[in-house]
Amino acid sequence: MTAATGVNGRAGFRDPSPARSLALFRAFLREQSDPEACYALLARDAADQVEAYGKVAGKVVVDVGGGSGHFTREFRARGAQALLFEPDTTELGQDPPAGTVVADGYLLPLPDASADVTFSSNVLEHVADRDTFVSELVRVTRPGGLIYVAFTNWLSPWGGHEWAPWHYLGADRAQARYRRRTGRAPKHTLGENLFAHHIGATLRHVRARDDVSVVAARSRYWPFLAEAVTRVPGVREFATWNLLLILRRCPP
Ligand SMILES: C[S@@+](CC[C@H](N)C(=O)[O-])C[C@H]1O[C@@H](n2cnc3c(N)ncnc32)[C@H](O)[C@@H]1O
Repeated sequence: MTAATGVNGRAGFRDPSPARSLALFRAFLREQSDPEACYALLARDAADQVEAYGKVAGKVVVDVGGGSGHFTREFRARGAQALLFEPDTTELGQDPPAGTVVADGYLLPLPDASADVTFSSNVLEHVADRDTFVSELVRVTRPGGLIYVAFTNWLSPWGGHEWAPWHYLGADRAQARYRRRTGRAPKHTLGENLFAHHIGATLRHVRARDDVSVVAARSRYWPFLAEAVTRVPGVREFATWNLLLILRRCPP
């Protein structure tokens, strides 16, 4: 057994730690050749991050924009009643988890306060209206429940996704370069399915809300100083890579 397989399916790394970041980075490098292993490790790691605040067994976990469902499967493997809501049937692939609902995160077909944990990994940068998306996550989370939101901010070295890091020269130039180099249209177009969200503005938004408290704001992948890096205005926009917010729903 390696640290990456962990016990009982957990990734089992100390977080943050160099060993964890290295394992995630290695998995990311193998994303094309071995996507299953890459996403399984990412899912175990994210579920570990959620379970740092309490076990999910027996809890309702709502995975918003969960793609093909690797996080939903991991939460179910841990005993949660996990539900996948994904608007794009192409992203769902051939074998989505049973009970998957095709739905947009702006308007979830769920009653208020129905989830113990609302989970959204790398979706926020794909929605134009950040605040409405967050509001919907908050609406469906019960008071005392947890909201996990992680996203790649625009000025992250990975902010331009497949055309990164050339987005630093401007999205139009970066997208044109991608087309020239690959002969293909990029998957993401700024303003259509990728949006320039910033860490400072997002933190100000969630801190100003009276319906959530911010439990953690940190870099999702950094091996050390994961919280410290998000405290330095300016620097955080470039150095955080991916912002992880853990929010707790306040009582009404
Ligand atoms: C980069 S993928 C992330 C998939 C998965 N959550 C993960 O972390 O591997 C972005 C996902 O966000 C979804 N998405 C985009 N706009 C959305 C919206 N308005 N509501 C919910 N999901 C959305 C996309 O369909 C896609 O599955």
